[in-house]
Amino acid sequence: MKHTGLSVFLQQQIEDQSLIRVLEALARSCVRISTSLRQGALADVLGALESENVQGETQKKLDVLSNDVLLHELAACGAVAAMASEEMEDPVLAAGKAPYLVVFDPLDGSSNIDVNVSVGTIFSVLLAPKANELTDPGIWLQPGRTQVAAGYAIYGPSTQLILSVGQGVHQFSLDPLTSQFVLTQERMHVPEATAEFAINMSNQRFWERPVQQYVTELLQGKEGPRAKNYNMRWVASMVADVHRILTRGGVFLYPLDERILSQGGKLRLMYEANPMGWLVEQAGGRVSTGHGCILDLRPEKLHQRVPVMLGAAEEVRYLEALHKAQA
Ligand code: AHG
Ligand code: MN
Ligand code: MN
Repeated sequence: MKHTGLSVFLQQQIEDQSLIRVLEALARSCVRISTSLRQGALADVLGALESENVQGETQKKLDVLSNDVLLHELAACGAVAAMASEEMEDPVLAAGKAPYLVVFDPLDGSSNIDVNVSVGTIFSVLLAPKANELTDPGIWLQPGRTQVAAGYAIYGPSTQLILSVGQGVHQFSLDPLTSQFVLTQERMHVPEATAEFAINMSNQRFWERPVQQYVTELLQGKEGPRAKNYNMRWVASMVADVHRILTRGGVFLYPLDERILSQGGKLRLMYEANPMGWLVEQAGGRVSTGHGCILDLRPEKLHQRVPVMLGAAEEVRYLEALHKAQA
């Protein structure tokens, strides 16, 4: 079978050469991060650093290394005006007059690195304002709906790049022999219904009531109100959990719980919920806080956190109905 390479695909789908340069820089970064991950313990890149990131989380060596790779490649492509990341308190300026902003989670699921379980890189491409506005923090606060492109790389048994420029979600696989991404699936699809859910069950007693009720009903299986048996999965890398949903369906929840009420949730809006939610919606699924579509939220700050429910539209709508009933 003849596979289409990422560069050829981008040229076929996108007219704007600047956007192509941004996406190629992101893909190159993911190849480099993938190579470091594959070297793992051999390259002494595993383990934690002394430092903490802006969220007060201990940084892994690979969090920092991945962040540096993205900053370098995106600045060098010449089409990115500024970059923001989970690992940096403030955005970094790149090419002043360039047309795009990129916000990213350089390494998602980093608690999984040392145990050799899948991790990923998540990115969101936004339109940049005029050059003289680039230091205004407000330029980043664009609703998820306005994303120009979004995607992620998953570093699993194979490395794959999942990408959308607003016309469906497409999967590319990294050929380790050529270091090139090749198209391996067009138009990924999240079925309307599912019998598989993903949530960290250890937090159950802290969840809000609608989520407690939802999961209780799922666990009642055939004998309960949902009248079917559900299976459960939780990798604890959002990239891996969402990738499973884009591949074989399902619903994913990281709800609010009473210990994280004041911070608004666990997952980050700008570089986790928005890009992943946009991909899921493009693939026919739904993404919500429980009270409405995440993509319509007007962000209040760069590192904002939100409750996330995404995947099979039937399940996410059911969750929204439970939230409404208990409001
Ligand atoms: P990150 O490694 O970028 O901080 O993100 C980790 C996130 C997300 O990937 C995952 O869904 C969630 O944390 C797992 O949380 P728990 O450890 O609470 O299950
Ligand atoms: Mn993350
Ligand atoms: Mn991260």
